[in-house]
Amino acid sequence: MFDKLKKNSGGSTPNSNARHLGSDSRSVTDKVGDAAEAAVSKAGDAVATAAAKVGAGDAKHAQERFTASAEKPGKKVVDKSGRPLLSVRDLKVHWPTDDGVVKSVDGVSFDLYEGQTLGIVGESGSGKSVTSTTILGLNRGTNAQISGQIDFDGDDLLTIQEERLRELRGQKMSMIFQDPLSALHPYYTVGAQIIEAYKVHHPKASKKEAREHTIDMLARVGIPSPQKRVDQYPHEFSGGMRQRAMTAMALVNDPKLLIADEPTTALDVTVQAQILDLMLDLQQEFKSAIIIITHDLGVVADVADDLLVMYAGRPVERGDVYDTFAKPQHPYTVGLLNSMPRLDEARREKLDPIPGNPPSLISLPKGCSFAPRCAFRHLVPGNRCDTEMPDLYSFGDQEARCFLTAEQKAEHMEPAQARTMDTPAAAGPVEAHGATKLGDDA
Ligand SMILES: Nc1ncnc2c1ncn2[C@@H]1O[C@H](COP(=O)(O)OP(=O)(O)OP(=O)(O)O)[C@@H](O)[C@H]1O
Ligand code: SF4
Ligand SMILES: [Mg+2]
Repeated sequence: MFDKLKKNSGGSTPNSNARHLGSDSRSVTDKVGDAAEAAVSKAGDAVATAAAKVGAGDAKHAQERFTASAEKPGKKVVDKSGRPLLSVRDLKVHWPTDDGVVKSVDGVSFDLYEGQTLGIVGESGSGKSVTSTTILGLNRGTNAQISGQIDFDGDDLLTIQEERLRELRGQKMSMIFQDPLSALHPYYTVGAQIIEAYKVHHPKASKKEAREHTIDMLARVGIPSPQKRVDQYPHEFSGGMRQRAMTAMALVNDPKLLIADEPTTALDVTVQAQILDLMLDLQQEFKSAIIIITHDLGVVADVADDLLVMYAGRPVERGDVYDTFAKPQHPYTVGLLNSMPRLDEARREKLDPIPGNPPSLISLPKGCSFAPRCAFRHLVPGNRCDTEMPDLYSFGDQEARCFLTAEQKAEHMEPAQARTMDTPAAAGPVEAHGATKLGDDA
């Protein structure tokens, strides 16, 4: 897969200093206002808000934001012929502790191209956040043992000077953090922090311009009365509001790379749709690349082009999101999909969780990390699953870290979702999954 990389064929790089989120700012603002009002009023049940989200998705298609592929109607086409914007190779992040070395990330590789969205999924503790914070250089200066390569637009992020890293962070790459409180300073107003983030990379902008731009951003992420809110402190914002303020801060400089770590967890579905739309607007206009980390497979299905499934610090499956949902190649991915509600049947009382727990990252099993929980291991001859760690094998355009043959998978692995999910859009939002909190603090 990685051998296919060729020299960059060119392609214009969007001017990241220009800010035009959407061509009709009035209609965007109206839409934001309407959605915020709906969210704040807490009116409507799950079905209504889910319908609003699906509606938002349809509107996107109506706008023909992306070139549809004839093969997969409605699918955005990502140009992978040039050099990737971000190239991660064999990334390892290990933490020595008194109990042993915690292998949080243990051999992560992937490419991300301009305009591409990569979804990263995996159970809690699988190394998703540590992967992303390491890309941004946030684990430098800690006791982490970091190795591998992270090439971002010509810079090796693991070796560049701290000053250059700071220059890139906030301007060319930014992150929406899983925990909004950790990203907002309690002593400064929300507006002052966003203005500061903007001014650092736009030193010529006047105070007034920076403030107006900030108010505009707050409106775009669905914060009502942004003129008033701009002067409030983080503690005066609810959890959902803080999440939106942080999103505004992450997007204020039109980054080429946006890493969104659970960006919509604290939000109700209407605001979720808004935030996802905003990210897609950014992507459409500036060809930004996005990494979205989430527990919500419905969100992945809505926005991601490719999927990276992580288990115990390692990628276990990689591939196009359509293909992965329709024909997962790893038993763990099957387990994740089967723990989602089916859309073509009445809501089930009980989903099918994957039995057992992920292994300790201090003492990983010798063989396949998933072996203790795997329902298919008996299909692999001998006790290979217990004694040998599988590589990432190719299955067409997909890759999976599993010894099962294509024939064995075709015969034995059929996730409930695969029968209905022939396009990502069909997955829709996953309210019943529990990932979506309705109307608590939007
Ligand atoms: N500084 C650290 N020292 C030791 N272990 C760490 C450190 N930071 C993270 N870890 C461990 O690394 C593992 C991966 O953490 P990470 O935060 O990346 O998980 P995650 O996939 O993002 O999970 P979640 O879905 O819950 O956010 C966890 O077991 C975590 O406890
Ligand atoms: S290698 Fe064996 S234990 Fe691991 S996922 Fe495949 S079948 Fe299951
Ligand atoms: Mg995390």
